[in-house]
Order: sequence, then C-alpha cells, then structure tokens
Amino acid sequence: MRKLLLAAAMAALVSTFTLAPAAAQSPIVIKFSHVVANDTPKGKGALKFKELAEKYTDGKVKIEVYPNSSLYKDKEEIEALQLGSVQMLAPSTAKFAPLGVKEFEALDLPWLFKDDETYAAAMKGTIGKWLFQKLEAKGITGLAYWDNGFHMVSSNRPLMKPADFQGLKFRISGSKIADQYFRLVGSIPQIMAFSEVYQALQTGVVDGCENTASNYLTQKFYEVQKDITVSYHAHLQYAVIVNSKFWSGLPPDIRAQLEKAMAEATDYTNSIARQENEDALAEIKKSGKTTLHYLSDADRKAWQEAMQPTYKWAKGRVGQEVLDLVAKELDVKMN
Ligand code: LMR
Repeated sequence: MRKLLLAAAMAALVSTFTLAPAAAQSPIVIKFSHVVANDTPKGKGALKFKELAEKYTDGKVKIEVYPNSSLYKDKEEIEALQLGSVQMLAPSTAKFAPLGVKEFEALDLPWLFKDDETYAAAMKGTIGKWLFQKLEAKGITGLAYWDNGFHMVSSNRPLMKPADFQGLKFRISGSKIADQYFRLVGSIPQIMAFSEVYQALQTGVVDGCENTASNYLTQKFYEVQKDITVSYHAHLQYAVIVNSKFWSGLPPDIRAQLEKAMAEATDYTNSIARQENEDALAEIKKSGKTTLHYLSDADRKAWQEAMQPTYKWAKGRVGQEVLDLVAKELDVKMN
C-alpha cells in the first residue's frame, strides 16, 4: 500500500513538472479548388504550388488542393472565392463573367493567337496585366496565367465543314464569345459545368463540346464522342486568382514565399502544357475509341470565315478598349 501511494505521489509530481510541449502554431490553410483532374497541366501545377509553398514557408502554410470539382463546381467556386470560403482558384478565363468582368472573354476569339509563343508573350505582357487590373475592383487578385493549349471540337459526326455543325447542341464553358462562334456555324451552344459534361455527352443532352486533349483524356470525353477534330480554333488558359483581402492580410514574409512558389509553379505548368496535351492526344488516338480528324487549309479557311463575324460582335460584349488593346498587341484585325 505504501509503495502504491508513493508511486501515485511520484506520478503526480512528474506530471506537475513536465511541461507540455509549446503549442505548435496552427498553419495558415489555403484551399485551392479546381475542376480538372490531377493528371493535367493545371492539376499538376496546383500540386507543384502546394509542394513549393509548403517547403518555402517551412510548413507555416498548408495548401489543400481539391481537384475534379470535389469542393465546388465552376460557378460556385467563383462565388466561394468572393465569400472567402475558398482562397485560391485557377478557373479558365472564359468563366469570369459572373465576377462582372467580361473583358477576359476577348481571349476566346477564334484563331486569336497564332501559336503558343504568341499566347505566352501576350499573357506575360500588357494584355495579361491589363486584364488582372480589372479583377482588383472585384476584390480578386490575379497571381499568374497558366496555359492549357488549344481547343479541339467533337461530336458523333465528323466536323470538317461549317455546315457539319448545323443543329448540334454544344456544351460551352461560359464565354459568350464561344456561344457566338458556335451559333455562327448553326449549332446551339449551352453553358454547362465541367463536371457534368461527360454524362451530358453520354446521354445526348448535348451532342458535342470543345476542349483540350488533356481534358478530353482525363474526363473520358473521347469515349463518348465518335469524332474529334483537332481544330485548335481557340485557346484555353487559366488565371490563378486569390481573394484580395485574404492575400493582402497575410504576413508579408509569408506572402513573398508564396509568390516565389507561385512564380516557379507557373513556369513549371507553362513548360509542361504543350507536351501534356500532345501526350494526351497520342493516348486518345491509341485508344481507338474515337476518330481524330484534321482540317485542310481550305477547311480551316471556311471555319475562319464563318466565325469571323464574332470579332465585330465582340465589341458589344467585351467593349472596344480590350479589343483595341488585343488588336494592337497581337497585330490582328477586329473586323
Ligand atoms: C471547361 O469547363 O471546359 C474548362 O474550363 C475546364 C478547365 O478548367 O480546364
């Protein structure tokens, strides 16, 4: 008994003098939501940012990446960012109209960017910066542009001539410019969240869609579309954006480390985008589940002529200012 009492007294003494470990400061959590698969340029970019951000901040920041619309769908994620329920997104710039910023849609004009290099220079330069300024007034800060290359288009019939689009229902992601160019070739565009596209194609709710090879592959669109035209008629790019209040409220040293991580993740993403899409296209071809078609020069010219009125129409949607800027920077005609 005495021994027991002694042991209990000793235990009490030890517990009194054992200092609890200093409470570790809980990390700042950044929720990064996006709608595509991890195995795409954007998906890989988000994971690269997570890796670098956690490393550079020495664990003071934790990045939670939610791919594949697992947290929010297209429109909801933009609302959630404004409300502060999510801190970081990388939506395609075709989806910014709900923010009240339509100017980004100028980037969706058909055959606007001559090639990958022209696109990259434009977004790094005046156009990219000018567009980001438009977001500031909405409480959103633009951190970077991430590339995902050029769109293809598909349906269950080969799309080679403008007339082939006649009467087909096309899923579009949000841009009224895309709405316009699909209408000009006689199809019926419909905005739909990315996560709903596979089923809509499978069940015939829509007949076709446009997207990049990496999205066709990872969302399995190619399994439910008999024909894909490698048209590269428009470009898909993302803006990595944060809630401005959250971002400016971060301790300056942390923000600087995150900016460094973002700059490196951006270089990484933009350096892999082209190859990722080429690999995806090769895999789609290998699957044998769809037929790939390529436009002849004459076909391409016919599409360009049919869709050209989009340029004139765009003024009423995105305004003259951005069109003037784009025309000057890219040396293209708007009429
Ligand atoms: C789409 O909705 O088609 C794209 O914006 C998806 C994406 O983010 O690549």
